[in-house]
Amino acid sequence: MKTLSIDVRRAEPQDAAAISEAHRASWLHAYAGIIPHKPLMQMVQRRDAAWWRKATRGPATLLVLDVAGVIAGYATLGLNRARALPQDGEIYEIYLRPEYQGLGLGRMLFGESKRLLKSLGCEGMVVWCLEESEMAERFFRAAGGVDIAEGMEDFGEKELKKVGFIFR
Ligand SMILES: CC(C)(COP(=O)(O)OP(=O)(O)OC[C@H]1O[C@@H](n2cnc3c(N)ncnc32)[C@H](O)[C@@H]1OP(=O)(O)O)[C@@H](O)C(=O)NCCC(=O)NCCS
Repeated sequence: MKTLSIDVRRAEPQDAAAISEAHRASWLHAYAGIIPHKPLMQMVQRRDAAWWRKATRGPATLLVLDVAGVIAGYATLGLNRARALPQDGEIYEIYLRPEYQGLGLGRMLFGESKRLLKSLGCEGMVVWCLEESEMAERFFRAAGGVDIAEGMEDFGEKELKKVGFIFR
């Protein structure tokens, strides 16, 4: 019998090209029609394999969701950047390739990220998402997040509202 291995692990430099591809697919799928086309394409192109190779060396912790050898998604995490919020940790990004969404894998990657922050001594954590990103909002609410903060993100031609969720 064949078993399907699903693993959340730290990214290695040799994962860089696959993470870049997962980032591209996920961001274009999630943000087309929300973030203006030009800045979205610039953000995707900037994060090529070389960019991600550097990212595997910090400062943020980079985790990958490895499904039978395929990088199905990634998460980056570290210290909370918003001084006004008392939570210690932050998940900066959590993204899955579109074809792996809605299967419970995001919950798994999120749970591992949260556990890792806790094991590093973080009390509480924050996650931000764009207000128009309905799927992300539903996901963070379902994961027990409380939306208590708001901010604006500048995309050159357009400013978009973002929502900060806190978790205990
Ligand atoms: C947000 C994201 C990480 C969630 O991962 P996922 O694997 O799709 O979500 P899961 O299947 O683990 O869902 C967990 C729970 O979240 C909620 N949820 C997730 N997607 C949902 C949807 N489209 N509609 C309603 N509820 C949803 C549900 O409560 C679900 O639990 P259930 O299936 O038992 O009802 C993933 O969909 C993704 O990468 N989206 C695009 C990028 C993005 O928006 N990232 C966050 C920006 S910081």
